[in-house]
Amino acid sequence: MRLDILSFILVFFVQCCHSARILGVFPLAGKSLNILYNRLMRGLADAGHDVTVISAYTNKLPVKNGSITDVLLTGFAEEYDLMLSQESFLDSPEDYPFYTVLYYLELLEPTWNSTLHHPNVQKLLSSNQKFDLVITEHFWSDCLKIFAHIYNCPLVIFTSMGGINSWVNDQVGNLLLPSYVTHTMKLRVSSEETNFRERAHNLLFYITDYVYKHYFLFPNSNAMLKGAFSNPPDIADIYDNVSLVLLGSHSSLRPAAPLSPNTVEIGGFHIDPPKKLPKDLQEIMDNAKNGVIYFSMGSQLRSKDFSEEKKKIFLDVFARLEQTVLWKFEDETLPGKSSNVYIRKWLPPVDLLAHPNMKLFITHGGYGSLQETIYHGVPVLAISVVADQHNNAFQAVQLGFGLKLSYNDKNFSEKNLFNKIIELLDNPKYRENAQARSRIFHDRPMKPLDTAVYWIEYVIRNKGAEHLRLLSTKLPWYKLYCMDIFVAFFISLWVLYKLLCVLLLKVFGKNQEKLKVKEN
Ligand SMILES: *[C@@H]1O[C@H](CO)[C@@H](O)[C@H](O)[C@H]1NC(C)=O
Ligand SMILES: *[C@@H]1O[C@H](CO)[C@@H](O)[C@H](O)[C@H]1NC(C)=O
Ligand SMILES: *[C@@H]1O[C@H](CO)[C@@H](O)[C@H](O)[C@H]1NC(C)=O
Ligand SMILES: *[C@@H]1O[C@H](CO)[C@@H](O)[C@H](O)[C@H]1NC(C)=O
Repeated sequence: MRLDILSFILVFFVQCCHSARILGVFPLAGKSLNILYNRLMRGLADAGHDVTVISAYTNKLPVKNGSITDVLLTGFAEEYDLMLSQESFLDSPEDYPFYTVLYYLELLEPTWNSTLHHPNVQKLLSSNQKFDLVITEHFWSDCLKIFAHIYNCPLVIFTSMGGINSWVNDQVGNLLLPSYVTHTMKLRVSSEETNFRERAHNLLFYITDYVYKHYFLFPNSNAMLKGAFSNPPDIADIYDNVSLVLLGSHSSLRPAAPLSPNTVEIGGFHIDPPKKLPKDLQEIMDNAKNGVIYFSMGSQLRSKDFSEEKKKIFLDVFARLEQTVLWKFEDETLPGKSSNVYIRKWLPPVDLLAHPNMKLFITHGGYGSLQETIYHGVPVLAISVVADQHNNAFQAVQLGFGLKLSYNDKNFSEKNLFNKIIELLDNPKYRENAQARSRIFHDRPMKPLDTAVYWIEYVIRNKGAEHLRLLSTKLPWYKLYCMDIFVAFFISLWVLYKLLCVLLLKVFGKNQEKLKVKEN
C-alpha cells in the first residue's frame, strides 16, 4: 500500500517534470492542413505534454496523456470557406504556378494580421501563461514567430509542403544550389539532362523568393508587428532564429538533397494504421471483383465544382470501365453516373487505400494524398490543379508509380483520360514501383510521429539546440559567399599584374633604349 502511494507520487513527480508547455500557432483554416496540425499536436499531448493550440478549429479527438487547450480563432473557418467559394482554384493556369502562389500569399496575409489582433489570442497574451516551445507552420507567415520571441523560448517550424522545401532552407542556413535542387513550386524535377532553360527558370524561382522576402515579406511583417505590439523586434532579427524544422516530406517521395542538422523529415506522421471500414464501404470494396478506383480531389477542391464538360468526361470514362469507382463527390446526386460509380460526400482515404482490392487512386496530387497512397503502395493518376500539386504529380511520374493529367491540360479529353487509366491498371510496373517506394517510406528507425516528438523534446531538453545551428545563419552575405576573399584575390591579382607591367617596362624599356643607342 505504502509502495503504491510512493510509486504514485513518483509517477506524478516524473510526469510533471517531463511534461512541457507547448504552443502551436496554426491560423490557416484549410481542412487538410488542420488534420496535420491536429495530429502533430495530439501526438505531443499523447507524449505527456500540455499543449495549447491557436487555430481555426477545436480539437474533438481524445488525448491519451497530457492536455490540449484550444485558443479558437473564431470566424477564421467561415472566412476561409468564403474565400474558397469566391476563388476559382480550378481555373489556375499550369504554366505559371509561381505567380499564382504569390497571389495566394497576398491573399493569406490578412490571416496573420487577424491572428495577432484576435481577442482570444490577446487574452492568451495578457494571461501570464508561459511556454517552453512554440511551433508554427511556415507559409511566409513570419510575423507569427513573434510568439517565440514573446515567450523567450525555442521556435520550431513545421512545413506541410512536399519536395525539398526551398522555402525553409534559408531559415536554417541550408544554402542549396539551384542547379540541382528544384524549387518546391517549380514544375519538373531536375535531372542530369536538365537544360539551360530549365535551370534558368529554377534560378528565377529562387531569386523571386529572395526578392519577395526582402521587399515584401519583411516590410509587411514589420508593419503588422508594429500595429499589434509596442516595440516589436525587427522581423530580420527573428526570421532565422529557428531551432528545428520539421519537414512534412519524405526522401522516398523526392530527389535526394542535403538537409541541415536541425531539419528532420516526418512525412507520413499523420497516417494512422488503417481502421475498419464502415459497413457499406466494406461491402463495396469486398464485392468489387475487378477492383476499385478511388477518386478524390481532397478537401479544398471540390469535384462538384468541375465544369460540366469535365464532369461528363469523367462519367463517360468511368462508364467504360469494369472497375468499381468510389468518388468523393460533394453533392447528393450526380446525374448520369453509371451503376459501377458510387458517390459519397466523405470517404476515409487511408482505410480505403489499405484494402487489397484497391487498384488506383485518382487524386489532385496534394502531398498528404500522395503519402497516403505510397503508405499502401497504390498507383496514382494525378489530376493536379494548383500550387505544389503539379510538382508532386511530376514526382509520381518520375518515380514511376503514377501518371499526370492536370485539370487544365489542353489534352484533357475522354480518350486521354481513358488511356491513362487503362495504362495504370494494365501495366504492372506502376504497382511494382509504388510498392518499392512504399518499402522505402516505411524503412525508418522510428515512426514519423515519434520522430517529431523526440526532436521537439530534444530541442526543449537542450535549450534550443544551439549546437545544431549552422553558422551560415549568422554570417553577412559577403562573408557567406566568400565575396570579400574573391574581391581581395582579384585586387591582389590586378596589383600584381600592374607591378609586373611596371617591372617589365623598366627592364625591357632600358634594353630598348640601349638597343636604340646601339642602332644609332
Ligand atoms: C504520460 O506522460 C509522461 C510524461 O509527462 C510519461 O512519463 C508517461 O509514460 C506517459 N504515459 C503514457 C501512458 O503514455
Ligand atoms: C532566439 O531564440 C532563443 C531560443 O532558442 C531565444 O532565447 C531568443 O530570445 C531568441 N531571440 C530573439 C531575438 O527573439
Ligand atoms: C492589421 O489589423 C488591424 C486591426 O484589424 C488593422 O488596424 C491594421 O491596419 C492591420 N495592419 C495591416 C498591416 O494590415
Ligand atoms: C498533347 O498531346 C500531344 C500528342 O499526343 C503531345 O505531343 C503533347 O505534348 C501533349 N501536350 C501536353 C501539354 O501534354
